[in-house]
Amino acid sequence: MEKLELPVPVAAFCRDLLRWYQRHRRDLPWRRRLEPYPVLLAEVMLQQTQVKTVVPYYRRFLKRYPTLEDLAESDEDEVLALWSGLGYYSRARNLRRAAQQIRDRHGGEFPRTYQEMIRLPGVGRYTAGAVLSIAYGQPLPILDGNIRRLFARYLKMDGVSAGDDSPPLWDLLTRISRYAAAREEVSDLNQALMELGALVCTPRSPSCVRCPLEGSCLGLRAGVQEKLPLPRARRAVRRLSYAVAVIRHRDRFLLARNRESEFLKGMWEFPRIRVKDPDQDLTVEVLEKAFHRKLGLSLNIGGLLKPVRHQITFRRLTLHPAVGTLRTAGPPPGLVWADPGGDRSYPIPAYVGKIARLYAREHGPA
Ligand code: ADE
Repeated sequence: MEKLELPVPVAAFCRDLLRWYQRHRRDLPWRRRLEPYPVLLAEVMLQQTQVKTVVPYYRRFLKRYPTLEDLAESDEDEVLALWSGLGYYSRARNLRRAAQQIRDRHGGEFPRTYQEMIRLPGVGRYTAGAVLSIAYGQPLPILDGNIRRLFARYLKMDGVSAGDDSPPLWDLLTRISRYAAAREEVSDLNQALMELGALVCTPRSPSCVRCPLEGSCLGLRAGVQEKLPLPRARRAVRRLSYAVAVIRHRDRFLLARNRESEFLKGMWEFPRIRVKDPDQDLTVEVLEKAFHRKLGLSLNIGGLLKPVRHQITFRRLTLHPAVGTLRTAGPPPGLVWADPGGDRSYPIPAYVGKIARLYAREHGPA
């Protein structure tokens, strides 16, 4: 394994970075409470989601579950409902199970070792390092997409692409985190690396003139800062089409619980069926038969709204909303009437709100 070195002494690197961080850090709610549970919550929410989206979710979540113990005692559906709109719902399920494990196996005390932390559901090397370094000042490195991009440029790493796990980079970051921890600065240093990646060393058009590491950045010196990191090999996108039954009753819509799908499991959605051939399958007659055969729903379908596109990880969904009424007096067992805009007792994915708003534009509010 080729060993990576900083172009300047580690002391100078940390000093410049920390000085910048003290001046330019954002006042984010999770920076005000450097305790393990709020830090874990923030890191989990921030994994696939932008800061400005996370802030209100983070606040609501902590208000509802102020301690790990509250989260361990929570109802899973309520946790998912609070997560609705953030996506990647397994994060929420794992976080709740992690809180239960801490209650059951650690006597309610947050683990203080890396080995214990990475055994928690949903906690990997990044999250364990982030929580233990930020909340407890432990000498652990963190490496996420932001930090990988920053170092790909700073060290002009032209062999590393955006998605690579790079053992030499983990090793370099481990040395940096040990230096900083010995001076009780690792919490800020790790946050400073994230912050520099988020605010200055951005994916497009990095603001090198504002960067505290400008003078020693090898990528900038070679003029390749915008070309690094090399693009990652992307997972092939899967295109999937579905018809969804949009059935309104007063201000609510008929929703069914997703029990088996490979995505959105456990969430409440419009009744949804796969469409293999949009030309053939999107007629009122074919749809009515298919909803009946596959889901036992007897519908009168009046028409289709324009399709809605929605991406879930690598799946690109095209959703065809079929608007209609129920032929039966009440909903079949297991289905519910719920308001996707206001009902916080059901976990409802973002696309349902998108379609409900489209419906309201076409048909007027309830
Ligand atoms: N992204 C990941 N973790 C973060 C944090 N603690 N603050 C800001 N952005 C982040």
